[in-house]
Amino acid sequence: MLKPLLYKGKELNVLDQRKLPHEESWVCCKDATDVVKVIRQMVVRGAPAIGIAGAYGYLLGAHAALANGEGISPAGLEPVYRELAAARPTAVNLVWALDRMASRLDREAAESPAGRVAALVDEAQAIDAEDLEANLRMSQAGAALVSPGKAVLTHCNTGALATGGQGTALGVIRDAWAAGRIEEVFVDETRPWLQGARLTAWELQQESIPYRLICDSAAASVLASGRVGWVIVGADRIAANGDTANKIGTYSLAVLARHHGVKFMVVAPTSTIDRSCPDGAAIEIEQRPPEEVRSLAGQPVAPIDAPVHNPSFDVTPAGLIDALVTEAGVLQAPDRAGIDSLFR
Ligand code: MRU
Repeated sequence: MLKPLLYKGKELNVLDQRKLPHEESWVCCKDATDVVKVIRQMVVRGAPAIGIAGAYGYLLGAHAALANGEGISPAGLEPVYRELAAARPTAVNLVWALDRMASRLDREAAESPAGRVAALVDEAQAIDAEDLEANLRMSQAGAALVSPGKAVLTHCNTGALATGGQGTALGVIRDAWAAGRIEEVFVDETRPWLQGARLTAWELQQESIPYRLICDSAAASVLASGRVGWVIVGADRIAANGDTANKIGTYSLAVLARHHGVKFMVVAPTSTIDRSCPDGAAIEIEQRPPEEVRSLAGQPVAPIDAPVHNPSFDVTPAGLIDALVTEAGVLQAPDRAGIDSLFR
């Protein structure tokens, strides 16, 4: 199974998603600052994968502190925590994973410094493995919602590359295809970073799942054609009332889906749910560099100084979501009470 993050021998190797699909190369992270860079520069991206990378980054910070004879405690590693947490603001999985690492360290206070670092190795690997397990469960649960005979449409990349393996929305699509429940996949190219064109198309092609790449602006006519049964997407942060932040363009798909009577599914592990965030208005939306919009694959496509608005995510109101699939259960028409029930 494709894994975008490989931890071995006090190093984290990261598959460089900026170069895919034309080049397969890896970036080696030796300390927490290297991990901050790979997250910020989108060498690794996708909410769960960012969280897993953050956990390994915290671990690399602990390795460095141990080598320098510094204290191995949540307070001692606070600067590492803060540096990593600030790398990208919207995907809550990052802070979730860092909190899990810090509280594991807190629980291991009676151990020797080396024993505490060993516990952090265990915790980071558990976060990674549990994400894969969650994806496998969600894939089955989501696929069961899809009635055979139609296509699905997806946005951004939510596959193995964006997670600990298998994927969230793309995991559902994999299982639905294997079960004979979908005819084909329409893949939004996902301007400006082209996660759909470069990454989702690549993953689907590797598994011989039939797909057609579309310009984002073609989605309306594809949904109007009646060929699509479900729009299936992932999430970067889900508020306590079910409002969902995901890649820019997701909200327009949800509006289009409702207009055309197409079902809209969000697939995300509970680590993407931020119960401290009351609703979508409280979610911080990352602004990306203007060059992403002014150019395409490194080629300028606009006046070089064109003013740009480049939010990386938008918020889909819970009322437009027909199903939220998590590893803890499926919510039809998710709302505050339903979200609460996932944590009981
Ligand atoms: O900017 P990105 O590529 O990190 O954004 C990724 C997305 O929006 C994904 O849809 C989301 O993280 C879910 S990935 C399983």
